[in-house]
Amino acid sequence: GKGLFTYDPGFVSTAACESQITYIDGDQGILLHRGYPIEQLAEKSDYLEVCYLLLNGELPTPEQNKAFHNTISNHTMVHEQLSQFFKGFRRDAHPMAIMCGVVGALSAFYHDSLDINNAHHREVCAYRLIAKMPTLAAMCYKYSIGQPFMYPRNDRSYADNFLRMMFATPCSDYEVSPVLARAMDRIFTLHADHEQNASTSTVRLAGSSGANPFACIAAGIAALWGPAHGGANEAVLTMLEEIGDESNIPEFIARAKDPEDSFRLMGFGHRVYRNFDPRAKVMKKTCDEVLAELGIENDPLLKIAKRLEQIALEDEYFVKRQLYPNVDFYSGIILKAIGIPTNMFTVIFALSRTIGWISHWNEFHSSPNRIGRPRQLYTGYTQRDYPADR
Ligand code: SDX
Repeated sequence: GKGLFTYDPGFVSTAACESQITYIDGDQGILLHRGYPIEQLAEKSDYLEVCYLLLNGELPTPEQNKAFHNTISNHTMVHEQLSQFFKGFRRDAHPMAIMCGVVGALSAFYHDSLDINNAHHREVCAYRLIAKMPTLAAMCYKYSIGQPFMYPRNDRSYADNFLRMMFATPCSDYEVSPVLARAMDRIFTLHADHEQNASTSTVRLAGSSGANPFACIAAGIAALWGPAHGGANEAVLTMLEEIGDESNIPEFIARAKDPEDSFRLMGFGHRVYRNFDPRAKVMKKTCDEVLAELGIENDPLLKIAKRLEQIALEDEYFVKRQLYPNVDFYSGIILKAIGIPTNMFTVIFALSRTIGWISHWNEFHSSPNRIGRPRQLYTGYTQRDYPADR
């Protein structure tokens, strides 16, 4: 009908799909994947098991787990031709710009023989993406620092393999400490899925037209890039460095509260959570553990972050608006301690979230569906005639 629809800018109160993957209770600060609390998954599971769970709906049996690991290992390499694709980018390109391009380019390698209506084909897409994202992410970094690409090592764990591709060179091996591998895996796990966030909704919408899934994931990467979404982890670290000293915190708090100033406290606030983001709690604990194990618990940025959190949580402005730290408030400090450069933070979010994106894409295509097509409230000119004298 004409004009008979609800107006909901930003989709604050519109459900666009049914889903069985992830449940969030924003008032209570609860996050469940396929029913399992995020705290328990972070503590007892690992990233690949969570990938299996998100994709298939159940935890794997030991046999299924072994087969899944084998399958992922079989797909870790990318086509040798992709290394040529990297070389077209300026060396100082932001790694997220490169990721949009190279992940989208995978669609050229897997298109003609791909039938998205075939459940097995969809599964293989997911395996390829889970396996290749760490390889592509590490290639972005190697390209930016002018080092040769490192091939994946299938005898290592998922996180260990990623860190090795980042930090080893052909002339020097890199022994990944178990502490860092565990911290890396935990960051992957905490970012794996978060129901209909902007990037996942983008992947679903792009996918709803029947487009190639690798191209849809590239669309998700683009949506994730912005500082209001996945780009926040990079922005948090930049902000903490800019604050520089605890004595400068009040000035930044005042700016965040000033309606005339576009500055916002990065890593704070969330559309759905009106309580602590449960992932932020686990992240903070992980941050303390990792820094203690590395003997750098007096890290000045961590001190600033903790003080900033404390001040914000007691400030009337933040209390009234129910603004709490989100998943990315503490992740950057851990990533920095691991040795990951700031401009790679959002790439790591993209790598981790790929399983969420592809699980939602798969769920969309597994159920009755139709193309996504929002409506609008037209506020432009009414009809008028083209000038006769032109
Ligand atoms: C992620 O959706 C997901 O699930 C995302 C995510 C995922 O896993 O996929 O959880 C990942 O994207 C985390 C969010 C990362 N972004 C940031 O940390 C950037 C800083 N935060 C904000 O820009 C903001 O809080 C958002 C984008 C997260 C949420 O935006 P909303 O829901 O549109 O909230 P809003 O802008 O309408 O804010 C409501 C009020 C406003 O004040 P008033 O106009 O009512 O006076 O709160 C204020 C806002 O100005 N506000 C902030 C603030 N966040 C909100 N004020 C200062 N600093 C902030 N960070």
